[in-house]
Amino acid sequence: MRVGIIYDRGEKCKTAHDIISFEAIKSDVHSVRKTIKSIGHEPVIIPLETEGSDLKYAMCRFFNRIKNSNVDVVFNLCEDINGNSQSEINIPAVLNLLNIPYTGSDVFSLAMTNDKQKTKHIMVREGIPTPRYRVFYTKKISYHLNFPAIVKPNNEDGSFGIDSGAVVMNKEELEKRVAFVLENFRQPAIVEEYIEGREFNVSIFGNHPNLEILPISEILYVDFPDGKPKIADYNAKWLESSFEYSHTPVRCPAEMEKSLEEKIRRISLKCATIFGCRDYGRVDIRLDQSGRPFVIEVNANPDLSPKAGFMRSFIAAGRTYQDFLGNVLKWAAERKDVTQVA
Ligand SMILES: Nc1ncnc2c1ncn2[C@@H]1O[C@H](COP(=O)(O)OP(=O)(O)O)[C@@H](O)[C@H]1O
Ligand SMILES: [Mg+2]
Repeated sequence: MRVGIIYDRGEKCKTAHDIISFEAIKSDVHSVRKTIKSIGHEPVIIPLETEGSDLKYAMCRFFNRIKNSNVDVVFNLCEDINGNSQSEINIPAVLNLLNIPYTGSDVFSLAMTNDKQKTKHIMVREGIPTPRYRVFYTKKISYHLNFPAIVKPNNEDGSFGIDSGAVVMNKEELEKRVAFVLENFRQPAIVEEYIEGREFNVSIFGNHPNLEILPISEILYVDFPDGKPKIADYNAKWLESSFEYSHTPVRCPAEMEKSLEEKIRRISLKCATIFGCRDYGRVDIRLDQSGRPFVIEVNANPDLSPKAGFMRSFIAAGRTYQDFLGNVLKWAAERKDVTQVA
């Protein structure tokens, strides 16, 4: 098969965060390309290039290139467009219109899961345990909330906007942090009750009804000083030189009682099914003080880099990158003619 590897070169991104995450994607592109070749397919790299032109023109050129490259299937590594993570959902939408099959989740799953508020709303309706929450569109805090709480931008991922200051202990800190999110991220702030117990990543491979749960991994919070929130914040995920990065090793497979594992598996499968995660997905879970699991987040197209949760679990299952790509490309290609506009 001819496989188009699409990604955003992030040429107009200037913030440190954007540069780090685009560097990570570039390295994913390199590994995907090499592996696709090694399993006998023909990779065609198609970057979204925006330098020197306006975005509208760049997008038209990008989709023309995809269409004209006569690829059989697209490997979708577009996580955002020019640093805007809310734009990610438009890529599968256009690929649907062009009837080009692609890997990963479709527009509906990405739209639901990229919006933390929508995700939680659906979880609550479906009886999936998730921390209680409120969403603030203005600085006016008019609800009663239990403390500690955590304040996050509603539409970001990769812990963008999350550091120790995100965990607030009282109304004053809450007001300040909500204002910080509104001003700096220009999107609503979601505030959740803070669940500080063990944290697990549950990676799911396949498609409904053949969903496979990979070995569960646990983020360990080692020697965190008293009072420092135990969260996988921005530093823990991206900044190798930071305290948070070096004090949050991961154990995979996680050790836990059978009954807890069963519960976590059941909840995660339900999430993957409800949100329609396709090919690969990851559900993040924390335990409260009494050991009850709560879903923190559902990731429809999780980070595929070797250090991130999904690939770590895949490798822990004794599988290879070739195996991952081979399956995902096969499933995507089989969707040809079913990716039509509804
Ligand atoms: N309600 C919560 N209680 C405790 N920790 C949380 C909560 N929400 C988020 N966190 C911590 O912050 C991290 C990032 O939050 P998450 O909602 O997954 O954002 P992102 O989409 O940026 O990954 C989580 O992995 C967890 O460590
Ligand atoms: Mg997360």
